Amino acid sequence: MFQRCAHIEGSHHIFGRSSYVSLSYGSHKDDVIIKNHVWIYGCLQSQYGGKITLEDYTKIGNHTTIQCVNAVYIGKYTAIADNVFISDNNNHPVNPDFRLYMRQTSETDESRSWIHSANAPVYIGENCWIGQNVRIQKGVTIGNNSVIAANSVVTKDVPENCIAGGNPAKILKTEIDKIAAPSTCRGYNEYREKCSKQ
Ligand SMILES: CC(C)(COP(=O)(O)OP(=O)(O)OC[C@H]1O[C@@H](n2cnc3c(N)ncnc32)[C@H](O)[C@@H]1OP(=O)(O)O)[C@@H](O)C(=O)NCCC(=O)NCCS
Repeated sequence: MFQRCAHIEGSHHIFGRSSYVSLSYGSHKDDVIIKNHVWIYGCLQSQYGGKITLEDYTKIGNHTTIQCVNAVYIGKYTAIADNVFISDNNNHPVNPDFRLYMRQTSETDESRSWIHSANAPVYIGENCWIGQNVRIQKGVTIGNNSVIAANSVVTKDVPENCIAGGNPAKILKTEIDKIAAPSTCRGYNEYREKCSKQ
């Protein structure tokens, strides 16, 4: 199914049982780019040519949804946990008169498409970790290596190497690249040793 609905590169992909891609209002398979070694358990939805890019070694958790009418970019090695919601748009306009009209149309009416709402690209950098139940709003950029704590709502940019959390998310820790790695994992210790010899 994914081959028909997305542009897939490389190998070692995992497409979980309830994962899917939805293309509507003119979106094409080339608007959804899935690179090497990507694991998808959730769903990707593109309207009006919204560009979703999942770089190498990214993971999209169970029941996680990405909605896109503009652009959503997920950088290499970034892990997105379960029940996360990332959207580059507000779904509907806030204008009361427009919404009143929309409520009186059929369920599939074009007025309900996301293109009519405020939208802006979402950019998540490399090696980020997005915790369970997080919501990321339109226009947000998250810097490389940063972590978003579980249950947060991210409405503003997060710089690199930070932990952000809460609703709305605030910076909780900075310079996490300076926090020592645990020494309890044999595999990691061997990997570090190998790297130091190279
Ligand atoms: C982000 C996280 C890793 C931070 O862990 P940590 O570095 O040990 O953080 P601490 O426990 O030292 O907490 C630091 C501060 O952040 C706050 N905080 C921690 N988690 C928070 C959350 N989800 N929302 C809001 N604030 C949070 C703490 O209250 C503390 O505030 P204080 O400094 O005022 O006391 C952890 O809180 C988390 O959310 N993990 C996600 C787990 C997950 O979603 N797993 C999914 C499977 S991959």
